[in-house]
This record gives sequence, structure tokens and C-alpha cells, in this order.
Amino acid sequence: MVGANYTLRDEIREYWSERAATFDESPGHGIFSESERMAWHGLFARHLGPAEGRSALDLASGTGVVSHLLDELGFRVTGLDWSETMLERAKAKSAVRKSRIAFRLGDAERIMEEDASFDVIVTRHLVWTLVDPAAAFAEWLRVLKPGGTLIVIDGDFVNQGRIERLIVRLESLLARRGRGGNGTALSGDLAERHRSILARLPFREGARAEKVAAMVEQAGFCDIAIDRRLGAIHRAQARHMSLTRGLVRQVQHRYAIRAVKPVD
Ligand SMILES: C[S@@+](CC[C@H](N)C(=O)[O-])C[C@H]1O[C@@H](n2cnc3c(N)ncnc32)[C@H](O)[C@@H]1O
Repeated sequence: MVGANYTLRDEIREYWSERAATFDESPGHGIFSESERMAWHGLFARHLGPAEGRSALDLASGTGVVSHLLDELGFRVTGLDWSETMLERAKAKSAVRKSRIAFRLGDAERIMEEDASFDVIVTRHLVWTLVDPAAAFAEWLRVLKPGGTLIVIDGDFVNQGRIERLIVRLESLLARRGRGGNGTALSGDLAERHRSILARLPFREGARAEKVAAMVEQAGFCDIAIDRRLGAIHRAQARHMSLTRGLVRQVQHRYAIRAVKPVD
């Protein structure tokens, strides 16, 4: 029963909690190959340099995929997510791998940490789903140390370019002829809830890199760079997807944004 105090935030949390059990099974979420792992390491090394034991906060850590990548590189990692189900899976994986990641329950828009606590913040696939992105970016600036680096990995999953539209049309044609589904794996109910949540979010018209980067700058970050060189990651992921999904992955508007907290 949904009470009067049930908010959009509760709805988003429940939506992700229900996806936790199968989250790692989708290529693009879980990591399916050593070449993908190496490609992620390359992206982080490009923007963060050697870890040297620095502290990193993985915001909206989900099942801990990014936390583990950062741990492998030698960061002291804290993973934060507001879904208990996601956190349980992250902790279970961490126990098997004997990693020392600290997973905590919390809201990425109101982080219960001291000012200047972390050298690095990384967040993958959170920004598009933020209820108050401007407040979140200000909060991330607060918990970063001066000179610390933020990496946002995200995409515009709303607008389709011409090539993506063509591939999606081909995909539904093939599906109608019984030649493979679209492989997105969202059931009717989850897909409908996803649509309904998205329609009420600030980034409902798509989290374009330029727009997100401008908001990050507005929050007080400097030295901002948009990195679209994610091809090695996407090609590695595509090998584990249907042909059409793999092609879509490679033409979507996906990016990493690197930003630095000024040293004043
Ligand atoms: C698409 S999943 C991404 C998980 C992980 N970052 C990854 O890339 O594998 C989105 C995650 O964001 C979390 N999330 C969404 N909004 C959040 C918030 N305000 N605070 C904390 N976690 C949040 C959800 O619980 C979910 O685990």
C-alpha cells in the first residue's frame, strides 16, 4: 500500500531494488570480459592517474561493479547506494573477492560525510535519475577534497540519433519475424515504471553531456572535460549483446565527464 508520504525518491529506490537480483546479468551492467575490465581501467587511469591508495567514493554503487574496478586499481573505496537490495549484492560480491570496500546505505543527493572527505568521486548511470541534480552536484563538491576529481559516466537514453532509430526499427522488424528479441530484458511492468519515473525527472529530455557538464561547472567545479572515447568499453560490451543491441550501444550518446574541485 502506497501512503501519502510516498515520494518519487521512494519510487526510484524501489524500482532499482527490484532490478538488483538480475542487474549484473546484463552486459553493460556486469562485466563479461577481461577486455571490458581493461577498457574501464584505461578510462579511470586516463582521468585519475595512479591510485596510490587515494580514497574514492562510488556514488550509487548498485551491485558494486564500479567499486570493484576502483578497488582493483588500488583506490580505498567507499560505495554508497540507497537500495538495501543492491547493497546486499555488492557486499556479497565483495566478501567472495575479499575486497576491502566499505559499502554504505545513503542518499547520493545528501551524503552523510564530512566536507572534503574524498580524493575522487565516480558515479555511473546515476545522473539521469537524479531528482535534484543541481543540489547533488553541490553536495559532491562539498565532500570532495580541494583538487579532487569527479567522474560522471552517463548517457542520453531518451533521444535517438538517426542511426540508432534505424537499428531500433530493424530490431523490431526482426523481433516480429521471430528472429531474436531486443534483449533489453525489461518486463512490461518494469518498462512502464521506468517510463513513468523518467517522465517526472529533471533529465526527462535526456542527460546530454554538454548540459550535465554546464551544471557541474555551475556547481563550482573547474577543469571540465567531456570524454566520448568509450569505444573500447562499448565494443567489448557489444560482443555479449545481440547484434542490434551491440550496435545501439556503440552509437548512443554516452560519455564520461571529468571535473575538478578548485584549490582555493
Ligand atoms: C543504473 S543503477 C547503476 C549502478 C552502478 N552505478 C553501476 O553503474 O553499476 C542506478 C543505481 O543508483 C541508485 N540510486 C539512484 N538514486 C540514488 C540516490 N539518490 N542515492 C543513492 N543511490 C541512488 C539505485 O539504487 C541504483 O543502485
